[in-house]
Amino acid sequence: MMKPVKTGTIALLLFLSLIVRAKPPLEISRGPVSLQFSITEDGKPVYAILYNGRDVVKPSTLGFMLESDSLFYKGFSLISADRKTVDETWVPVWGEYSSIRNNYEQLTAHLKHRSGKLLDIVFRVFADGVGFRYEFPKQTGLTYFVVKDECTQFQLTGNHKAFWIPGDFDTNEYAYTTSLLSEVNNAPVVRAATDIAVRTVTDSLAVQTPLMLKTADGLYINIHEAALLNYPAMQLHIDKSGFKLSSNLVPDAYNNKAYLHAPEHTPWRTVLISDKATEILASKTILNLNDPPASTDLSWIKPMKFVGVWWEMQTGKGTWNYSDYPDSTDAHGQLIPNGRHSANTANVKRYIDFAAQHGIGGVLVEGWNRGWEDWFGNWKENVFDFVRPYPDFDIKEITSYARSKGVQMIMHNETSGSATSYERQLDTAFRFMQQFGYPAVKTGYVGRIVPRGEHHDGQWMVSHYERVLQQGMKYHIMVDAHEPARPTGLQRTYPNFMACEAARGNEYHAFSNGNQPDHETILPFTRLMGGPMDYTPGIFKLKGYAPWAPDRSVHSTLAKQLALYVTIYSPVEMVADLPENYEAKPDAFQFIKDVPVDWDDTKILEAEPGDYVTIARKEKGKNNWFIGAITDENARTAGIQLNFLQKGKKYKAVIYEDAKSAHWKTNPEAYAIRSMTVDSNTKLLLSLAPGGGAAISIMQSE
Ligand code: NOJ
Ligand code: CA
Repeated sequence: MMKPVKTGTIALLLFLSLIVRAKPPLEISRGPVSLQFSITEDGKPVYAILYNGRDVVKPSTLGFMLESDSLFYKGFSLISADRKTVDETWVPVWGEYSSIRNNYEQLTAHLKHRSGKLLDIVFRVFADGVGFRYEFPKQTGLTYFVVKDECTQFQLTGNHKAFWIPGDFDTNEYAYTTSLLSEVNNAPVVRAATDIAVRTVTDSLAVQTPLMLKTADGLYINIHEAALLNYPAMQLHIDKSGFKLSSNLVPDAYNNKAYLHAPEHTPWRTVLISDKATEILASKTILNLNDPPASTDLSWIKPMKFVGVWWEMQTGKGTWNYSDYPDSTDAHGQLIPNGRHSANTANVKRYIDFAAQHGIGGVLVEGWNRGWEDWFGNWKENVFDFVRPYPDFDIKEITSYARSKGVQMIMHNETSGSATSYERQLDTAFRFMQQFGYPAVKTGYVGRIVPRGEHHDGQWMVSHYERVLQQGMKYHIMVDAHEPARPTGLQRTYPNFMACEAARGNEYHAFSNGNQPDHETILPFTRLMGGPMDYTPGIFKLKGYAPWAPDRSVHSTLAKQLALYVTIYSPVEMVADLPENYEAKPDAFQFIKDVPVDWDDTKILEAEPGDYVTIARKEKGKNNWFIGAITDENARTAGIQLNFLQKGKKYKAVIYEDAKSAHWKTNPEAYAIRSMTVDSNTKLLLSLAPGGGAAISIMQSE
């Protein structure tokens, strides 16, 4: 007679059989970062990431729920694996560095599902993190398919500090919250954000990427994605009990996530890791995971600064619209002017004169074309005409005047979310820019999207933004997109993708309660990880600029506004304030005139998310350096060693700093300027006021 087997014995036997059958994971490493890949007993693909042998992402599952196969995340077996090493250097058209090293170990796991379908998972391990993506090879069993969900998980090791905004399908224009993962609840944040035109959040535990994390023992982790094309943006759902993050893809009206046709692949999921915050900011991994440009004819792409007929509308001094309401027409059906329209020929010429006088390359004019009378809030299909100026905007006259002054005009195409209307006019609109010699366009997507049911960050709109970039490549137009999905390094593939907004910009100081003083110290670790931002820095009149809201102020000192030209990298930087406000402070304005928008080298000198950022950059093709240092609401002293200067050379440094009495709240415009001779042995001590900063130009003098 057989003896009854005890439960404990069964558990032990099962455990032993797991040990016997489990295969060692495949592993690749570069520097301190290691990646392990394996398949579980029930055929789930699993990866883990370590940093110097410490767990960063513990075994986490991968896979999909497809419309045709809801279990495309288990039942896989490994057919084979390939490895390769890549070490190459490439030269960006513009950027923070004159050349970029792309050095990684790659592992491709070729998987076969029990249904017979094939799936590859490609991992790249860099010295500062990991990128991985799914590839669907060409196969007969999987041609056209619908992704219902991606099941990528990031099993973290604890209750890390997080710098987050809500996972919203339509906007990134939120203030950041700093909290433990266990404290994330975006519902009150979304409710309070009434200044954002459109908000769509269906999960109170979802956060946007790039998500910046800091562990209790001082490790910095950044989770984002690279090369977002033909796929929805990925947000992260937080499982607070186990600190597990899982991918949330932005849906369409059918709650489908992506419509794909094999061979196809997803964007890269990225995890950057360092024990130094500065190394997160210096990482080029996201850029490296994007493909090189298809075209080699890129000499027409040129970084520039620009002024704009813009802040005067933001602050209520003028209007975008020509009439006060759409039906305001006279007996001949002509619009009746409201007398406050900013984009009129005389006013535009004033900005052209100002740009020419101060060596600023471009002038952006908003409100020049028909449609602004009822431009947003109505979810209309047809809003703007992108080739029909208002009667007081003489485009021929303005074009020839700008040309005579050596200034370039920047086009504005606000769509108010009606991407269908824009696509119908795209060819006409870009031909019009080419005809009048506009080298760049600022696009905009304020409000709910048409096609109705689509979201700003869904697959359809991601492809729309790409179509606009492709159109720009065809017509040689640079693009600066407002309200798009947040960037993912696509500026490598599309070097005409100069900048975008996709975050809460300086403009929130005009029409809302603004941004907190720590905002610009968090942006580099979050939104800016994917690419340049049109933040619109450089406001000089920091109080009393909005007559209808006299208490409103920019939550920054003037010196910090200067520093942002260095700390917020972009190849197109707006010189955002009114000409008269710069003319009132010509000594401080000199920094904005001097600071370049294209660089040979960048040194992240010190940084801590939410607290401070100090960056030095070397001007492209010149031996000049520029430094920006910013702080949050706390005063601080920044110690800067100039050991990156060329040894034995003398330079003239001009330091633009907060005056002793400066304070973002009480005395924001108090600044001081001093000059000194410096060399590579100099150490500078800078006193930053609460909400303050410092900007330094260092020009070679001998
Ligand atoms: C929002 C943009 O961010 C802003 O810069 C622009 O002026 C308005 N939309 C109007 O297009
Ligand atoms: Ca905006």
